[in-house]
Amino acid sequence: MNKRWIKVTFIILMSILLVFSMIGCSSKRTEQASSNEGGNNQKIVIKFSHVVAENTPKGQAAIMFANKVKEKTNGRVEVQVFPNSQLYKDEDVLNAIQQGNVQMAAPATSVITKLYPQWQVFDLPFAFADHEQVQQAMEGEIGKKLFSLLEEKNIKGLAMWDNGFKQMGSNKKELIKPEDFAGQKFRVMSSKVLEEQFKAVGANPVPMPFGEVYNALEQGVIDGQENTLSNIYSQKMHEVQKYLTLSYHGYLGYAVITNKKFWDSLPADVRSQIEAALDETTQWVRQNAKDINEQMLQKIKAENPKIKIHELTPEEKKLWIAKMDPIYDKFKNEIGEDLINAVRALRK
Ligand code: LMR
Repeated sequence: MNKRWIKVTFIILMSILLVFSMIGCSSKRTEQASSNEGGNNQKIVIKFSHVVAENTPKGQAAIMFANKVKEKTNGRVEVQVFPNSQLYKDEDVLNAIQQGNVQMAAPATSVITKLYPQWQVFDLPFAFADHEQVQQAMEGEIGKKLFSLLEEKNIKGLAMWDNGFKQMGSNKKELIKPEDFAGQKFRVMSSKVLEEQFKAVGANPVPMPFGEVYNALEQGVIDGQENTLSNIYSQKMHEVQKYLTLSYHGYLGYAVITNKKFWDSLPADVRSQIEAALDETTQWVRQNAKDINEQMLQKIKAENPKIKIHELTPEEKKLWIAKMDPIYDKFKNEIGEDLINAVRALRK
């Protein structure tokens, strides 16, 4: 073949490829439009991915939300819930939302810090004294500012759901004084503030996906972890932990998010029905998450009477705070002074 023929064959091949890829794209667009816009009452499917068990505040809320959406839309919208990291781990879920591979998720606020370090404001140790202060942060200026950041990355924040205050567990040593943390390896969600929190007391943070924590504790890969009582109980972490300190040192809440383009493509009436279902579910989880966590504490005690449980006294808490407080200054720029000041103001 001479050069001219090679050139001609190449051009023909490229043109064929171009035509095929254009046909592919346009049929994909039509498919998406028909399932998303639902102008002719077409069924709309929303895949909702999360990582926890069904008997936790988020697990129950996701099921309730799915039922309410079905009821309010007369079955036009189906929310398919995938718990226990069946579809995505927290490490991958933001990307899955942005790409539209799943339409909804409710990752812990700490997970979003990967995209926006400002979200670390919720990870700051001892930021909230009680549930009321958490609500003020979620519903007030702090929540508004954090949600407004998401849209530039094709994510829409729809609501914030509660889990509860985190507690500390260890296999190596009872955690009462800050010195007790020395040299212990603690699993953390991926958030630099959480890593600093453990470094501040001389421990070694180990970022790790949620679904791997039980095995890591059992096999001694890590010595301890922090989580809410419902997550500890539902993952059976209490079976592989000798000590549990009720420290209430940090808060674990969730951002219910969706793909922004998908959301904008929904008919207005469907959006309002979904919002109404979400509002009712958010109220439910707000009122019940605390009780669910308290019930789990009773189950932990009943099922593992050997676990040694200590509740931090106000004096002991002061010593933890003294060690961890410099983190606020250290992250002033990364989180933003406005958010740091807003969260500090809640405690006054
Ligand atoms: C964790 O990774 O510990 C939590 O974020 C899991 C969850 O979603 O509650």
